[in-house]
Amino acid sequence: MAPSGDDRCQGALLTSRTVNIESPTDLNAVRASYDAVADNYVAMVGDPGPWLRSALDAFAEQVRGIGPVLDAGCGPGWITGYLHGKGIDVSGIDLSPRMIEHARRQHPDVSFGVASVTELNPEPESLGGVLGWWSWFNLPREWLPRVLATMARALRPGGQLIVGTHRGDGDHPRIRCYGDIPVEWTTHLYQPEDLVALLTGAGLEIVVEIRLPPEPPLQSPQMIIAARKPAR
Ligand SMILES: C[S@@+](CC[C@H](N)C(=O)[O-])C[C@H]1O[C@@H](n2cnc3c(N)ncnc32)[C@H](O)[C@@H]1O
Repeated sequence: MAPSGDDRCQGALLTSRTVNIESPTDLNAVRASYDAVADNYVAMVGDPGPWLRSALDAFAEQVRGIGPVLDAGCGPGWITGYLHGKGIDVSGIDLSPRMIEHARRQHPDVSFGVASVTELNPEPESLGGVLGWWSWFNLPREWLPRVLATMARALRPGGQLIVGTHRGDGDHPRIRCYGDIPVEWTTHLYQPEDLVALLTGAGLEIVVEIRLPPEPPLQSPQMIIAARKPAR
């Protein structure tokens, strides 16, 4: 699991086409920040606990056999490796090269690559599932609907997109994280109804919504929302 709104913080990969028209302006700072915290992150973040694990299990069961799954912002690949262990055809990408070094070392049988989710342009109807597992809260607000639309287009009918993120309001600049390492990113919080509106706006049907309270070390409440591409 991937907390950033917590008290550790202050203040189908190869078949994808990439687009390089524009990028979020803070992308290099966000990449450098996750490179800087990656070693501590690996040491501090572990088993997501029973509710998040059960959501991953349900996701795996529902997307199994539909098509390849992309963990978009996989960090050190904990979730990617978990799904791979369940027999899911899954690969991961992450903005941070250091995170991907950890992912490759820890999960040598899984395919990983360095990329920003904002650059991905997977083929239409090429994926069975996509995860944005606590990895899209740094996207500038105007970028999230664009990423959701891209991923919704990439799903096969019946395929699912699952988003886990911090629940709340506002945009919160972070300056230190994961063991007091200096970082430069903004955590954008959403209420469940806002995320539901974005997902349905991308043409997806809501499958499930889970709200989790803040549990130490998390300061903010959390949520998971899964949505599927309607079957034809
Ligand atoms: C809090 S970590 C979560 C990592 C992983 N999903 C997990 O649950 O352990 C956030 C991750 O999102 C990645 N990230 C942030 N912005 C990204 C972007 N635009 N494209 C791809 N990955 C991004 C970061 O590099 C970092 O590894």
